[in-house]
Parts: sequence; structure tokens; C-alpha cells
Amino acid sequence: MREKRRALLAGARGRTLEIGAGTGLNLELYPDSVTELVLVEPDEHMRSQLQKKLARRDGPVEVVPGRGEHLPLPAASVDTVVATLVLCTIPDPAAALAEMGRVLKPDGRLLFLEHVRSDDPRAARWQDRLERPWGWFGRGCHPNRDTLGAIEASGLGVVDVEHDRMPKAPPIVQPLIAGEATRRG
Ligand SMILES: C[S@@+](CC[C@H](N)C(=O)[O-])C[C@H]1O[C@@H](n2cnc3c(N)ncnc32)[C@H](O)[C@@H]1O
Repeated sequence: MREKRRALLAGARGRTLEIGAGTGLNLELYPDSVTELVLVEPDEHMRSQLQKKLARRDGPVEVVPGRGEHLPLPAASVDTVVATLVLCTIPDPAAALAEMGRVLKPDGRLLFLEHVRSDDPRAARWQDRLERPWGWFGRGCHPNRDTLGAIEASGLGVVDVEHDRMPKAPPIVQPLIAGEATRRG
């Protein structure tokens, strides 16, 4: 996954907001084109792990408590929003996508790398059956979300998407999408 993360983040630039940054697996993969980094994370334990990693990074970076559904940032204030393996967990992904659209500048971009609902109906049925037990094990992760559909249904327009598989992952969380969306209009 590290190389998939790196390839995605190569497209980040300017003031960049990462939603649900977790333990900071993306931190050292951001390119120099990122001038400022804002890491929003609701979990206190994850935030303290992020804080410890910040010392290794040059340039302005801040860790901010908050949820994707209510981003603590003004409208049209960031150039790039990054969402990696987080739209599976956010309780209200539609609200979070609306917030991402709100905080993006008019020419800003959302970069996403997410595991998603399978296109194979049989595999998708297994994702549905295992959703609850997987959620207990995976801290609220939903393996069966149509995240590409959710992005398309939001105020964002998908300009690039690649369908892939998550390496070394259980089959229900293997289908992966990586891509880019922009604000429409
Ligand atoms: C599977 S982890 C992924 C972490 C990180 N994005 C990555 O790529 O490794 C899911 C993350 O989503 C965060 N999260 C949970 N609910 C959230 C919400 N409502 N808004 C933003 N992040 C949330 C969790 O605290 C956790 O850090």
C-alpha cells in the first residue's frame, strides 16, 4: 500500500488537508509541492501518535481534533483534500464529502484511496453479510460501501479513477479505488 499511497500523494499541492489521518502513515510520503499540512483526526490516541511523528517533518503542519462531517476549517481554504481508507469508517460519508467540497478552493482537488464495495455481486453479498462483525474488528469500518458512487453523488466530479486491489488484505476489503475529484462548476 505504501507505493499506492505515494503515487496518490504525488498529486497533492499547496495547503493540504488530510481527513482522519490515523497514525500518520501518509506523513512522510507528501511531496514538496505541499506547502502546509492540516491533519484532522477525531481519536485522541491517534492524534498523540501523529504529534510524535511531526518532529520528522519539515514545514508547517498541524494536528486538529475534528470529524469529517464537521470540518473545523473555513470554506474554500485548502488546495488539496486527502482521504485514504477513511470513507469506509466515517459514520456519515455523504456529509463528509459535502464538507470536503466546502473547504476546497474552486480549483482544489480531492485525492482518494479507498477500499470499496465489490463490482462482483457474489463478493458484494459477502461484504454485506460480514459488515457487522467486520465493523467490530475494524473499529467501525464498513467493507461494503459504494464510495465511488458517493463521491459522484456529492458536489464533486471524479476526473480520474483507477480500480485496483489492496495487497495482502482479506478478500472483503480488497477492492480498491484511487483517484481524483474536483469541485464542479
Ligand atoms: C482505517 S483508519 C485510516 C487512517 C489513515 N487515513 C490511513 O490511511 O492510514 C480510519 C481513520 O478514520 C478516523 N475516523 C473515524 N471516524 C471519523 C470521522 N467521523 N471523521 C474523520 N475521521 C474519522 C479514525 O479515527 C481513523 O484514524
